[in-house]
Amino acid sequence: MAALALVKGSVALITLKNPPVNALSAAVREGIVYTVTRALDDPKVKSVVICGQNGKFCGGADVKEFSGTMTGPPMVPMFHAIEAGDKPVVAAIEGIAFGGGLELALCCHYRIAQSKALVALPEVTLGLLPAACGSQRLPRLIGVLAALDIITTGRHVTAAEALQLGIVDQVIEDDTVAEAVKFAQSVEGKSLDDRRLCNRQCPPLPDLDAVFERVMQQVRKRARGAKAPVACVQAVKGAAILPYAEGLKLEQELMATLFRSDQARALQYCFFAERHVGRWSLPSGASWDTVKPRPIHKAAVIGLGTMGRGITAALVQAGVSVVAVETQEQQLAEAKLAVSGMLERWAKKRRVSPPLALIHYSPDLQGVADVDLVIEAVFEDMAVKENIFRQLSVVCKPGTLLFSNTSSLDVNRLASCARNPELVVGMHFFAPAHIMRLLEVVCGPRSSPEAVATAMHLGKRMGKVSVAVGNCPGFVGNRMLVHYMEQAGFLLEEGASPEQVDSALEEFGFPMGPFKMSDLSGTDVGWKIRKEAGLTGLRFPPWQPKRVRQGRRYSPLADLICEQGRFGQKTGRGWYQYDKPGGREARPDPWLQTFLEEYRAEHSLVARHISQKEVLERCLYALINEGFCILEEGIAAGPQEIDMIYVFGYGWPRHHGGPMFYASTVGLASVLERLEDYHHAHHDVPYLEPSRLLRRLVASGCPPIHKWAEVIKKHQSQL
Ligand code: NAI
Repeated sequence: MAALALVKGSVALITLKNPPVNALSAAVREGIVYTVTRALDDPKVKSVVICGQNGKFCGGADVKEFSGTMTGPPMVPMFHAIEAGDKPVVAAIEGIAFGGGLELALCCHYRIAQSKALVALPEVTLGLLPAACGSQRLPRLIGVLAALDIITTGRHVTAAEALQLGIVDQVIEDDTVAEAVKFAQSVEGKSLDDRRLCNRQCPPLPDLDAVFERVMQQVRKRARGAKAPVACVQAVKGAAILPYAEGLKLEQELMATLFRSDQARALQYCFFAERHVGRWSLPSGASWDTVKPRPIHKAAVIGLGTMGRGITAALVQAGVSVVAVETQEQQLAEAKLAVSGMLERWAKKRRVSPPLALIHYSPDLQGVADVDLVIEAVFEDMAVKENIFRQLSVVCKPGTLLFSNTSSLDVNRLASCARNPELVVGMHFFAPAHIMRLLEVVCGPRSSPEAVATAMHLGKRMGKVSVAVGNCPGFVGNRMLVHYMEQAGFLLEEGASPEQVDSALEEFGFPMGPFKMSDLSGTDVGWKIRKEAGLTGLRFPPWQPKRVRQGRRYSPLADLICEQGRFGQKTGRGWYQYDKPGGREARPDPWLQTFLEEYRAEHSLVARHISQKEVLERCLYALINEGFCILEEGIAAGPQEIDMIYVFGYGWPRHHGGPMFYASTVGLASVLERLEDYHHAHHDVPYLEPSRLLRRLVASGCPPIHKWAEVIKKHQSQL
């Protein structure tokens, strides 16, 4: 796990060996302690180089160990022993030095990095802080402000920046280990006093208190309720104002609180769930993971509106040539400009030239005859889409995969219009499609494993988190969201204001509450869908206080807002007011308050006080309950799939782990009880009735989330 070799006579070379990233597992730590002790004891050894095998220094702690009892040598004394040794130790950083890996490098006396290496302290993303002295050593090395930035964000730092900041002493183009060995020889016998970070003080900074107050405010705002970033600031403050030993004690205390917190568990769950979701078995039992995806060189995108533009850019960024089809002349001209702009911004960031030549624009379908796959992104209108699928079946070469970006329509119905229904799959991107990470891959009952595998793989190639889901109205994300949004509307009828509902959910950790979100995406989007579903238009007479449509409670508030032309940010008015059309800063609108009061009066509704707890429970539990129905129906393979859809597509706060994980931390019995109460109070809202699966899980003793699969399987077999 850590090999020791004597090279060039006096340099002990210690190589960490734990593929794939040389994580600091118990065995690796044992290896380090053993080899370092031998090297320090050996009179022939004058200096030490630590490197990692296969061009990777060290990916940090072994996250799998976090959930069990830690065994093996603890890191802090191990790092102190390296630092305190009387022989110079040089870290030869190739590939990555993340988390504990960078902390290991920081306890070495010198650091040399390969030019493509990345360093980071990403503990904060797992709900933790760099608690193997990282929060104390980094600020002493590079100053408080730079350390705060790196530790509170967990961002990757390139070798060039690490050199500029002083994290590493040298950057090497080629053989890093050989250079590190030469370097180690050159410093043999030199005093190490000023190389030991525990002996140093942070570089002085004027107005330290004011600096920390400002940073803390910024970090709290960005953290949206996550505790780890705040603890990181406190730990770095300790480094700035306390002697090393006391700072370290503070670091350990803060870590102890974070380590067993629900937030750390949630973030670590997300870490594994993100890796898990790509491996779904199809309802047919075939696993897409074992099916070979088709190679894709050339694709077509049909319809260059909001979505088609982003999809085109994302495909090209992944190296796929695109035939981009748009029939409206004006739209086509605008789309060309927009896509070029996206690609230019993307290329500028990466210092490459924009891959504009990979796109061929076309005003008709004729240019798509030789593509490997098509992604259709025309209006959300079944008839229009059906027509396109029929035409594509004639124009495209046999065997072309036909994917649709529909956000709600029946993929199976689209498939029935295609020559080969097995080649039709839903590929539901989220706006803006070149930025948002989530991709729902919608498998129709006839979609072939190969077609699904290709969609999943293409999504991954485009940098997305691809999640395979079954075919049903709204698929997974939007199907659950409908209830969340509807509850928010009901709360307004009952006495809440948009600001109150939004702030409760923003405090929970969403970047924006439902009303701000609705204003951002346009209130008219949902209006169009409701109109098509025959829900809008009718007035509720004042003598009918029970506002019921199609047998269930319905709030027409959103429709009434739209009838006033209040479409949200784009019109400067919606649930809020904005300083101008397109304005972004939402301000409470007195007009809306009067409108709500009049509406309630008209319908004999008496406004009551609604607590923050009720806002959260009504909105979140309605959504979660639908998640259980989705699991019961096998539309999502497991809770991780739903959670990743919400984390990557809907801004669900990662530190709450996704809706299903959140339900498990609140306690399933408690969620069930609250849903029962709410359903009792609102019996005309059918989706508040607790799902059968939730009842089954509670009856099975509320197993932890990783054991739900057994209960779900049993439950499904008995339906
Ligand atoms: P959009 O209205 O912005 O764009 C649709 C484009 O398709 C228009 O430019 C239109 O001229 C073009 N078009 C219509 N018929 C065509 C044809 N026969 N050939 C070529 N082009 C044609 O619509 P948007 O928002 O881009 O939505 C497209 C699809 O993506 C819809 O199915 C929608 O449900 C889905 N979607 C939309 C999201 C959003 O946030 N806007 C999010 C996820 C999915």
